[in-house]
Amino acid sequence: MEKTFLMVKPDGVQRNLIGDIVARFEQKGFKLIGAKLMTVSTDLAEKHYAEHKERPFFGELVDFITSGPVFAMVWEGENVVTSARTIMGKTNPSEALPGTIRGDYGINVGKNIIHGSDSLESASREMKLFFNEEELTSYNKQS
Ligand code: CMP
Repeated sequence: MEKTFLMVKPDGVQRNLIGDIVARFEQKGFKLIGAKLMTVSTDLAEKHYAEHKERPFFGELVDFITSGPVFAMVWEGENVVTSARTIMGKTNPSEALPGTIRGDYGINVGKNIIHGSDSLESASREMKLFFNEEELTSYNKQS
């Protein structure tokens, strides 16, 4: 089954949005298979955002994601990578539609509440950076 990596960023945690965000994915029918509240180290942040290393906002991005607790999650379900990005809305909250997480709560392109993997390859890479295999569970024994 397809999996994706999602992370409530420090602004979302600080604004008490974890419950609302988790509820949206649960209500859609996706299964949460791993989650933890954690502080991202500079090393982990630089690895996670490696593809943006040359961008002018890279330093800002690393400073922000390490500035306070995040809520890291792995979700499972049919087409969950693409579907999660639809539920999150566009990266820039000013372009994100109402009803999406970023459209409802985001302030600017930096403080945009949530991160979600943009492809199957990114999902696989990102979930391995944040979670060990033993930290992920499975619902396979439930009917
Ligand atoms: P995210 O999905 O976490 O992946 C990369 C992040 O870069 C993106 O969300 C934005 O929060 C951030 N980002 C993109 N453009 C800018 C920008 N111009 N200034 C600051 N942050 C940005």
